[in-house]
This record gives sequence, C-alpha cells and structure tokens, in this order.
Amino acid sequence: MRPEERAAWLRAEIERHNRLYYVEERPEISDDAYDQLFHELKRLEEENPGLQTLDSPTLRVGAAPVGSFGTVRHRHPMLSLDNAFGEEEIRAFDERVRRFLASGDDVAYAAELKYDGLSVSILYQGSLLVRAATRGDGTTGEDVTENARTVGGVPLRLASPFEGDLEVRGEIVMFKSDFEELNRQRIAASEQPFVNPRNAASGGMRQLDSRLTAQRRLRFLAYGLGFVDGEDALPDTHLGRLDWLMSLGFPVRPERRACHGIDEVVKFVDEARASRAELPFGIDGVVVKVDSIALQGELGSTARGPRWAVAAKFPAEQAMTLLVGIGTQVGRTGAVTPVAELEPVFVGGVTVSRATLHNYEDLARKDVRVGDTVIVQRAGDVIPEVVGPALDRRPAGAVPPSAPTQCPVCGTTLTRDEGMVALRCPNRQGCEAQIQAKIEHFVSRKAMDIEGLGEKQIARFLALGWLTDIPGIYRLEDLKDQMVELDRMGDQSVGNLLAAIEASKSRPLDRFIYALGIRYVGDRTAGDLARAFGTLNAFRTATFDRLVEVPDIGPRTASEIEEWLEAEENQALINGLLAAGVRPREADAPTGDHLAGQTIVFTGKLERMTREEAEAIVARLGGKPSGSVSKATTLVVAGPGAGSKLVKAEQLGVPVTDEESFLRSLPEGSI
Ligand code: IVH
Repeated sequence: MRPEERAAWLRAEIERHNRLYYVEERPEISDDAYDQLFHELKRLEEENPGLQTLDSPTLRVGAAPVGSFGTVRHRHPMLSLDNAFGEEEIRAFDERVRRFLASGDDVAYAAELKYDGLSVSILYQGSLLVRAATRGDGTTGEDVTENARTVGGVPLRLASPFEGDLEVRGEIVMFKSDFEELNRQRIAASEQPFVNPRNAASGGMRQLDSRLTAQRRLRFLAYGLGFVDGEDALPDTHLGRLDWLMSLGFPVRPERRACHGIDEVVKFVDEARASRAELPFGIDGVVVKVDSIALQGELGSTARGPRWAVAAKFPAEQAMTLLVGIGTQVGRTGAVTPVAELEPVFVGGVTVSRATLHNYEDLARKDVRVGDTVIVQRAGDVIPEVVGPALDRRPAGAVPPSAPTQCPVCGTTLTRDEGMVALRCPNRQGCEAQIQAKIEHFVSRKAMDIEGLGEKQIARFLALGWLTDIPGIYRLEDLKDQMVELDRMGDQSVGNLLAAIEASKSRPLDRFIYALGIRYVGDRTAGDLARAFGTLNAFRTATFDRLVEVPDIGPRTASEIEEWLEAEENQALINGLLAAGVRPREADAPTGDHLAGQTIVFTGKLERMTREEAEAIVARLGGKPSGSVSKATTLVVAGPGAGSKLVKAEQLGVPVTDEESFLRSLPEGSI
C-alpha cells in the first residue's frame, strides 16, 4: 500500500475509534492498540512531509503556541438562558410558553442536562473543522481553534458529509475522574490544585499552547446548532437535530428525553437531580427546550435569551464563606482531623457551618488560614469539605494553623502511623471522644439502628458515667429510674429508648459486623463478610487467607480485619456484647437457588423496597448483590434517576430490567 493510502486508512480508522470511544461509548480496542495506530500515522507523516491533512488525528496533540487569541464574531449570537429555581418556576416557564403560543394543549419539550463547563461554537466548512470560538460576550468570542482540535469528541471531519457551513454548539467539560487525576498530579508537583472541573476546563481552553490543552483531556458535549446552510432541510425538532448531530460524529449525551407537558419535565428534572452525583461529569441543572423548531421560531428571543428554553438550575455545590476557626475532631479510630468552623452558608441544598479539612497535611498544602474566605463544597450526600482559600481575599496577618501535638479531648500525646498522614490519639480505650464516636457509629441507622440514642444523648450519658463502652448500652436498662428523672426524658421516651435497645439485640449479622467499626469495613463489605462466613463464630475467627478469598475484599481490608480480630480488646468487645444478650441474626441460608451464579446491581430509585431489602432478596435466592457494574455483572435493575451505572451496563451489554419486571421474575413466595 502506498504511504498516502495507508495514511488515509489510518486517519479513518483512528477517527472511527475516536467516535466509538467518545460518541458511542463502546470502545473496540485497547488504549495500547489505539496508540499503535496513532504512532504509525505520526511516523508516516513525519517521513512523508505533505501527508498531514487538516483532519489528521495527529493534530489532536496540539500545535505550536499562538501569541494571543484572535476574535471571532458569532454569526448567530450565543445567548444565555433564563434560570428557573424549583418546580414552581419551571411551571411558570411552561405557562409563559403556552400564553405566548395561545395554546391550551401540552407542549412537547426536550429535556437534557445542563453541562457545567464552557460553551464553544465550532464551525465546519465542507465537512472540515475550520474554526472554534468561545462564547465571549455572546456576540464576539475568542478563536480557540487549535485548542478545540485537542478536545475529546470534537470531530476534525464530519462522519458523514455536509457541504455548506455548519456551526455546532456545545459545552467543553472535564470528566470528574480526569479532574481528580489532574489534581493528583498537580499536588505531586507541588502545584495548587484546581477548585473544580469547570475551572480546570476553562483554564485548559485558555492555553496559548494547545499542547497543554491536549494534556487536560477535555471533552466536548454537543447541545445545539448555530448558523447552518440550508437549515430547512434539517429535522424539525430539537431532539431530531441532536440525533442528526450524533450521526455526524458528535457526542450527545444519552440523558435526554422528549417530555409531553410540563409534568414530565418536572419528573426528568427530579431524576437528573437524583443521579447528579453518579454522572461522570458535573451538571448544574437541566435545560428545557420547546422541541419543535417551528414553535421555537414563533416564540423568538428577548435580549436576555430565547423564550423557548429555560435552565432549571440545581443548588450550587460550591459556595464561598468565611472560615471562622479551625477545630479538631477525634474519630472512632482515634484519627485526629481538622474541622472548619464556617460562617453558615447554603450549599448543595443545605446550610453548612462545619466542613472537613481532611488532615493537617492537606490543610497545609491548601494553605487555608483562619480569616480566609474559603470555597466550600457539598456534592450529593458527601460530607461538606473545604476545597481551598480565595487567596485574593486573604486578610493581612492571617497565619497558617499548626497541628496539635496532644489529643484535644484526653490530652494524650498524638502519634502518626508509619507512612500515613493521619495523626492519631493512641488512647483507644480511655479517650472519651473515641468512645463517643464508636458508640455513635454502633447505634447509627445502617448499624444497630438504635433510635433515641443520638449524639447529644450519648455525650450526656458519658458525662454522667452511665455509659463507658459499647456493651454499656445494654446495661442502661438498670438505670431506668434515674433516666426517667433526667430532665426532658420522661417515661415515654425512656420506654422507647429501652425498647429500641432491646430490638437491636437481634439485628442481622451484617449490621452487627458493620457496627463494630472496623476500618475499611463499610456496610457493603460487612454484607459480603456476613454472607461469606454465615455465623459470628466463623467471622470472629477468620484468618487473612480466608478473608482475602471473599469476593470484593482486597489484601488491605483483609489484613485490617485480621488485625482487628486479633486484638484482645476487640474479642472482649464481642464477648461483652454476647454476654449482654446480643444475638446477631445469622445470615439467612439461601432459600433457593433461583439467582445462583448471578451478580445483580441495583441503581436509581426503587419504589417497592429499599436497596438493602432488594439486596437481601438477591442473597436469599443464592445470587450476589453488587454495588458496581462490571463485566461480571449479569443483571442491572434500574429505577428512575439511574445514571452512569445504567450507561455502563449498556456499554458492556449487560441486560437491564426495571424493578417491576425483576420482582415478577422471582418465584412466588420468595419475597
Ligand atoms: S442551550 C439559546 N443546552 O448553559 C440556548 N445550553 O445558561 C443556548 N449549557 O451558555 C444554550 N448545557 O454554555 C444549552 N444542554 C445545554 C447546555 C447549555 C450547558 C450552557 C451553555 C449556555 C449556558 C446558558
């Protein structure tokens, strides 16, 4: 084959794999095999000057730096959108639309995610990418053509030919995993980490040297069109046009839906909010658009934005507030960590006044000081954290905090585990903070679930000397009379508390194992352990070799568990609990083998049962419940709001079903 023929074949093949990866999300070859194709093309182009075409994928690694960005005037302005916060404002948008159209009927809407990145407009002429521009002020943007070529998913040539001019609009984002990797690298190189993926993405697009942009692994997600030659020939709905864009090779997210009437829109928004944390990239809401292009034309635009679209915004996951102080927290394993005391701020849908600062090393690296204005983040159910300081707002004289040397609660000199960053209070039996944290964990909802024994109550009982350790919970009964006399408790609540304590004695083994508070043993791992060992006796005598055999348990967790079980004080704890009458209900023997050999993942919202119940059913029928989708998964049960796990299942070709069908498929009487 002549070099130009081979080069043409390689270009087409590489771009096909790019599409499989970025657009269809079902790669056919390994990264290594891809790299080989890429390097072969690069070598051919180097050996045969003149072979490199304008659509060569080798351009994706970036070009020589430019001195400054040119400006580009958008042929159609890049408008922004009106915001709608909450259901009421979404419904108000629908009313405005229907009033304007004088329509009593439901309107057909297209609902899609609102990607949190920066918008660009990419121009194709005769199917070739010729220019890309940022939004700028909406009328004029910056020419970022070279940078755009390096962005994952941006076709250099359209997958099917389009003769005239075509402007495609979309958002450039950084995936969460790439963001975390980038920050890991920056921290390792003693560089300031980025505060969020959006800043990292927009910083990446502002590089004058596109080779640096290429290293950021940015991604393009298409959401619409700008100027298009012969627009009338295109599909007449927004969703139809998105499908068309996909056929041209643009990445369009699968999380989009045709909604008839505003009720369906509200439902989509709720589902998107629920799956937000699971998505591989950040979103800040949902964009709702009138689906018919003709109706969009009738509605037109105001100076602010189109009347036919609205951004249903989610509460911000980041906010700025004042760092009033830095406190210290002692966890149940003795880890001593700094805690930010904040001026209360509304973030991620709740008011936050305390946030974690992880550890003292992290604190020093982020250079957070009392008096700083800091960026606070609360994503999903994750504990709020301080991301970093806004350095431009630092008051004069702010000093870096120092790490404590003594436990703030019991005064013991702190130690540091070898190779670990965490400071630790070694007074495991006597430190009141550790006892309190252990008891709090033991009684928590996913553990022994003892209602009525909250943080304040435990602190009180500890102060009174009524509680000194976990088994002491089961001796509280003896103090019933004193408890009734304690202010605010009274007969009824004491009765409820004692009943809850009694009921906890027969919690299932997996909850009991979780309640023990062994490092790295979360509720899911506890479930794996309970299923694998079946009885408390078998579990408490488990050895490392036996533990690593349990699916999903790695050597680090296995050795942590073994060490925990070998410690005398922990065996004494288990004995103490048994002596107090605690009898964990041992894992129910499988009641059938209907699901034997199956690995089942539940994702999204379940309507008829909790996730724990669903997983218990699977285990009882001989199957294995799992939390993540992989090649080993045999079935995914998806409910409303299912996100990345569903996408992954589809990529891997794992069968997907819904809750109803799953329940119906089970043998009668097995639930
Ligand atoms: S449509 C005229 N769809 O949100 C309508 N915009 O506040 C143009 N954005 O500047 C926008 N995801 O950068 C649209 N699925 C989506 C979007 C989206 C993110 C951004 C876009 C725009 C801003 C408007």
